[in-house]
Amino acid sequence: MSKRLLKFVVNGRQAEVAVEPHHTLASVLRNELNLTGTKVGCDMGTCGCCTVHIDGKAKLSCLTLALECQGAQVRTIEGLNEYEMHPLQRAFAECGGSQCGYCTPGFIMKSCELLEQNPDPSRQEIKEALAGNLCRCTGFMKIYDAVEQAAGELRKKNTQQPAPAKV
Ligand code: FES
Ligand code: FES
Repeated sequence: MSKRLLKFVVNGRQAEVAVEPHHTLASVLRNELNLTGTKVGCDMGTCGCCTVHIDGKAKLSCLTLALECQGAQVRTIEGLNEYEMHPLQRAFAECGGSQCGYCTPGFIMKSCELLEQNPDPSRQEIKEALAGNLCRCTGFMKIYDAVEQAAGELRKKNTQQPAPAKV
């Protein structure tokens, strides 16, 4: 099958990759761009391990054809914070929300979308947002704790932002 050129932006950088029409976004991120933070568990849309953001929305990269991302902005776990830990990453570590870690990038990308849309979610809203993500070792309570902790930290950080300079 003939390859086609995919041009898109990944974690703020322009990327160009020749891909087969059947290649998934997950396989291109991992195998062509070496962004192996995105995990593939079930490869059929049931575990949430492969969650990334496409144009600001959390999507399953195992169910997304790479060529569907032509011209799109894609963000992976590697792009969450380039130089320091994102509050979600720190909270997962501090709350024990990660053991083997295989599911963690998917949980964090999905939680990140939630907190961008709803900075102060209830526990029920967190559970509902993460209903499509599976973890087989940590247990979900510590994961929900981690999202609540990160939400609090992000709200605090946002209220401490200096006011924009007057012109
Ligand atoms: Fe994509 Fe499981 S690997 S949902
Ligand atoms: Fe191991 Fe979630 S930490 S599957």
